[in-house]
Amino acid sequence: MQTVFEYNVLAPGPVNLHPKVREALALPMIHHRTPDFDKILARTLQKLKTLFRTQEPAFILSSTGSGGLEALLVNTLSPGDEVLGIDSGKFGERWCEMATTFGAKVTVLKTGWGEAVKISEVAKHLSDHPNTRAVICQACETSTGVLHPIRELGELIHQYPQTLFLVDGITALGAVPMPMDEWHIDGIVGGSQKAFMLPTGLSFVAFSKKAWKQIPDAKCARFYFDVRKEMKANQKGETFFSSNVTMIRALDVVLDLILTEKGLENHFEQIAERANFATSPEI
Ligand SMILES: Cc1ncc(COP(=O)(O)O)c(C=O)c1O
Repeated sequence: MQTVFEYNVLAPGPVNLHPKVREALALPMIHHRTPDFDKILARTLQKLKTLFRTQEPAFILSSTGSGGLEALLVNTLSPGDEVLGIDSGKFGERWCEMATTFGAKVTVLKTGWGEAVKISEVAKHLSDHPNTRAVICQACETSTGVLHPIRELGELIHQYPQTLFLVDGITALGAVPMPMDEWHIDGIVGGSQKAFMLPTGLSFVAFSKKAWKQIPDAKCARFYFDVRKEMKANQKGETFFSSNVTMIRALDVVLDLILTEKGLENHFEQIAERANFATSPEI
């Protein structure tokens, strides 16, 4: 018998797959326009909302995290909108570039390497530029490991009725507490291969009530990532395009592991313990 080579993936993502996830990924295919799949989709979307800590709908997109980043921009912005982009490393730089590609006028606020953004600098920019349509920021800038003060940024941006706070939570969502509604996050994206402990290929997004008010008026070109289409389809128990059945079944399993078997708070504590261990000066 051929031995399957097992190795340990020690990265922010992809990560090792739980045996139950591997079992789910190996299940026979079912069609996505069936009552069986509709049930799986409905309960998985419900569990996602619990993880996002939001009362608003959460969406599953068949794309890597970057598709989710694009979805946050194209559903809320119009060409010419003023955007403040926090650039604290590779992923911040790329998201600013993406917003510029869609026609936003991006002012880039660069931090030092490995440094979090200073609230005072964002506050000054917003008071000098009250027309700012969005502030875009990583929760964790994976290229340096820095965590930005998302809660404090949310409190600040919430005071500006025209400004949305869009957060790249691709490595952070599901790994550190980030209750979307309570922290006034207007759009957030998570990625399957990171804290969701799945293979690459899904992204997860949700929008606040404040963002939903702007979604109908956003003029950026959008088709595949138009969340209004996805919302309508989800309300009928389906996804708009063909569903990623295999990954959604695996997501269903992993969300049970996190939310029911472990409990979200325990899950966050375990991750914090590991992070503290990995960054302690003793090792
Ligand atoms: C913070 C952050 N943003 C964006 C991305 C890009 O995600 P993807 O490669 O899944 O499109 C990554 C990937 O590592 C990331 O860590």
